[in-house]
Amino acid sequence: MNKRILTGDRPTGKLHIGHYFGSLKNRVKLQNEYETYIEIADVQALTDNFNNPEKVRNNVREVVLDYLSVGIDPKKSTIFLQSMIPEIAELTVFYSNLVTIARLQRNPTVKTEIAQKKELFGESVTYGFLGYPVSQAADITAFNAELIPVGEDQLPLIEQCREIVRKFNSIYGETLLEPEAVLSNNKRIKGLDGNEKMGKSLGNALYLSDSDEEITKKVMSAVTDPNRIKKDDLGNPNICMVAYYHALFNKENHKTVCEECKAGKRGCVACKRELIEKIKEELTPIREKRKYYEDRPELVDEIFVTGTEKARKVAKETMKKVKKAMKLDYFE
Ligand code: TRP
Repeated sequence: MNKRILTGDRPTGKLHIGHYFGSLKNRVKLQNEYETYIEIADVQALTDNFNNPEKVRNNVREVVLDYLSVGIDPKKSTIFLQSMIPEIAELTVFYSNLVTIARLQRNPTVKTEIAQKKELFGESVTYGFLGYPVSQAADITAFNAELIPVGEDQLPLIEQCREIVRKFNSIYGETLLEPEAVLSNNKRIKGLDGNEKMGKSLGNALYLSDSDEEITKKVMSAVTDPNRIKKDDLGNPNICMVAYYHALFNKENHKTVCEECKAGKRGCVACKRELIEKIKEELTPIREKRKYYEDRPELVDEIFVTGTEKARKVAKETMKKVKKAMKLDYFE
């Protein structure tokens, strides 16, 4: 039996090429080596979007379409919806006794996020948001996941999950599996504007579902070396986002691109045109696959329902063990 991995995404927006190079490509590979579970974390998305359920609802389907379009194969990966697994919510309640408020407040990821969400939370954060690491521990343990491929920002959440597991097992007896984080998708892709992070709110993202026109427009306005005005000015590819993206989409030519730029032998417009073609080459099959599934909504529903049913079976088994350990196994 292969080891089981679990990953998840909050459905708050379409996925962009930061997700693609940072985690999706890796998941497509991992699904051949591990038993893979992928959660669409709609309940978690609501912790900071409780006032915008429409947004979460609409993005659930967008994210599934993005998964399928990049090659996540529903025969290999179990894609499921968090809100349809009530056992996760139930476990969250039980685990909440095993975590202190001070410990949650010290969680670096939560701390940073609260600071960023002042507008939503004002002076006092909600119980639900502060507690989302507990709910994420339930996501992971409900499925006995052994390995959690995550980016660096998620490490404190996995650490907190491990603590909950240890505490649970020490009080109620060996029941839960302690998961391990694998830092396999820690590559953060910069935005087209040079920002360290790519994101919807930053307006600098290239989406997997962008049209040729959108790709062209975005690349044409990408940040390049500001000192380079004429084609024969000597360029510095290290501060050019176009060169940076050539490294992702045009690996085989990246060295030449940089050399020609430094020698003033490559114009920025031609350089951008070449990049646009390379991006189209990579994204066209993805968009075609997306279209295939967009045209077959019943097929997407079926993938989702089948995945969720399979996941729920596993969560029910865990629940049984947990209730037994906690002496909540009445009338059995
Ligand atoms: N918190 C994760 C994120 O924002 C999403 C997530 C929810 C997750 N449940 C998970 C990740 C379980 C790994 C395992 O990206």
